[in-house]
Amino acid sequence: MPIRRNPSWGLPEREVTPEALFLNRRAVVAGMVASGALPAAASTNPAKLAAIAARRTRDAGEPPTPLVDVTSYNNFYEFGLEKGDPARNAGSLRPSPWTVEVGGLVKKPITLDVDRYIARAPWEERIYRFRCVEGWSMVIPWVGVPFSSLVRAVEPLGSAKYVAFRTLADPAQMPGLRNPVLAWPYREGLRLDEAMHDLTLLAVGVYGRRLPNQNGAPIRLVVPWKYGFKSVKSIVAIDFVENQPKTSWNMAAPREYGFYSNVNPEVDHPRWSQARERRIGEFRRRETLLFNGYSEVAGLYTGMDLKRFF
Ligand code: MTE
Repeated sequence: MPIRRNPSWGLPEREVTPEALFLNRRAVVAGMVASGALPAAASTNPAKLAAIAARRTRDAGEPPTPLVDVTSYNNFYEFGLEKGDPARNAGSLRPSPWTVEVGGLVKKPITLDVDRYIARAPWEERIYRFRCVEGWSMVIPWVGVPFSSLVRAVEPLGSAKYVAFRTLADPAQMPGLRNPVLAWPYREGLRLDEAMHDLTLLAVGVYGRRLPNQNGAPIRLVVPWKYGFKSVKSIVAIDFVENQPKTSWNMAAPREYGFYSNVNPEVDHPRWSQARERRIGEFRRRETLLFNGYSEVAGLYTGMDLKRFF
């Protein structure tokens, strides 16, 4: 496998971003840096972030979204509701030291020390398409390991059917918790076989470096065939459970956000169509693909009515 040294995605931003948008974003980001509001973006202070050597195991076949967009156009409601809020406000998150409690219906519960884990896991770079439920999408070079490797380490019991994930909820670090828009902490879940699928990634980096705070430092999930909100950030607890766990978005609006949330152009959100999407940096809209184009997951849903289990 090739070591990521001279990446093919290292093409100039102007080749993938219309110039006006590009210049505007540059100005916004420059302003944020000047005001000290963009503390953890890899573009602003690469020396502070340890590079993670990773072999590339998956390519999306198209150029990744520029780092400046990946790190400045975010959803992370613990830091505010606007797209620029996470980059502006997430400097208060302290991603190290950090532990994740992995337990529930398992033989070997563990407390994962994330810094040590980052130092030793066999990291992979995987370039995934990423589709937000709001209709925008990106192509992102994540650094992670298949989540299945962690599942195997804790040895789930036969009664474990689902995995429940929980984000940190510390008002001292997360100003957005003051807003009761969601029932905090942020919760997400997967069926165990979805969690075990090779595409499901436990990510600790992006663009070859540790995750910036606004992208879910120090450790997050990435489930590329589901809408982006399933990809829970800044995880502190992973629980193996028997029954389908409650999830924040489903609790907030059950008719709008189902448990499965597979990308599906034929199942519209009650308030908008899901048939098309706009890649950040492009003007044209493109067709959204079933399972975000990751058709290898179809077998997980054989016999299921995906309109009912949306
Ligand atoms: N995780 C937490 N804890 N809080 C959030 O608000 N937003 C979700 C998901 N994970 C969110 C979260 C949504 S809606 C999306 S689209 C993705 O994170 C965005 O990930 P990105 O900002 O790294 O692109």
